[in-house]
Amino acid sequence: MRVFLTGATGFIGSYLVPELLQAGHHVVGLTRSAASAEALTRAGAVPLQGDVNDADVLREAVAAADGVIHAAFNHDFAALAQHSAADRQVIETLGAALAGTDRPLIVSSGTGLADRRGPLACETDPPFSGAAYPRAATEDAAAAVCARGVRAMVLRLAQVHDTRHQGRIALHIQLARQHGHVAYVGAGENRLAAVHVTDAVRLYRLALEHGEAGRRYHAVAEDGVPLHAIAEVIGARLRLPVGSISPDAAAGYFGGLAGLAQMDLPASSALTRQRLDWTPTGPDLLSDLRALPDDVGH
Ligand SMILES: NC(=O)c1ccc[n+]([C@@H]2O[C@H](COP(=O)([O-])OP(=O)(O)OC[C@H]3O[C@@H](n4cnc5c(N)ncnc54)[C@H](OP(=O)(O)O)[C@@H]3O)[C@@H](O)[C@H]2O)c1
Repeated sequence: MRVFLTGATGFIGSYLVPELLQAGHHVVGLTRSAASAEALTRAGAVPLQGDVNDADVLREAVAAADGVIHAAFNHDFAALAQHSAADRQVIETLGAALAGTDRPLIVSSGTGLADRRGPLACETDPPFSGAAYPRAATEDAAAAVCARGVRAMVLRLAQVHDTRHQGRIALHIQLARQHGHVAYVGAGENRLAAVHVTDAVRLYRLALEHGEAGRRYHAVAEDGVPLHAIAEVIGARLRLPVGSISPDAAAGYFGGLAGLAQMDLPASSALTRQRLDWTPTGPDLLSDLRALPDDVGH
């Protein structure tokens, strides 16, 4: 399959390119910089230099593709609403270019965006809605293009990790270095679902090859790793003391991350495993944190 991949130079994209190539696909990867374009060429993909917000670039790339994976996103959280609105537009453009075909479109979301109705967030849970959740625009846009006949799917990712990248946990590590101790709030029993990046990218490939229109798939290997366990491993690795802080002290330690640090975000992938015959096999989150490189958080 000729695959057009946005976000090809990101954390997930950099693992997705070899995953797709090894399965025999041809990859055209979108990138903004000449240096990243060279890296994509070295990796065996065809670079397409351009901005994801340029509709002409997207239309041209989609016209030459048998399937599209959209993994680009601007993670500047100070302008989350603006970037989420832009993402809606990107998905609208990709969807319009795919309309009337059976070619798959996979968009990337997070399990934290599921409006959990049971003990674990599952694939059938709709996304949150409303102004408090601007990032839900991504799933809204996917549903809208799907309603217009596009074979669009949503891949919701749990916390994706390897030994160098752990998304929001990197912020916990930076804060620990800054404060000289590792904190969790209350009993720290609130959880974070997790998946190793190699398992996540295999799921993207399976969704591309076999996914069905309108499905949400969950890239979740571990349903929920407690925040106190994460803090203890970070503390051991950084040789820093670890302890609980009260909810009142959370803003002082975590700043803008205080709300997130207290959320319980467990998730399931039972339906995904069954529907796409996906079994995660990669290292677990705590093993990757134990193997953090020495310069982490600096
Ligand atoms: N990693 C996780 O744990 C996680 C969890 C939940 C959801 N997700 C979602 O999964 C997707 C991929 O995440 P990631 O971790 O790989 O993110 P990432 O490492 O931040 O990579 C983002 C990619 O988007 C590209 N990009 C951003 N703005 C662009 C623009 N205007 N034009 C072209 N490319 C642009 C970046 O290109 P440059 O290299 O040019 O900057 C980069 O390749 C995102 O939608 C993310 O929100 C990730």
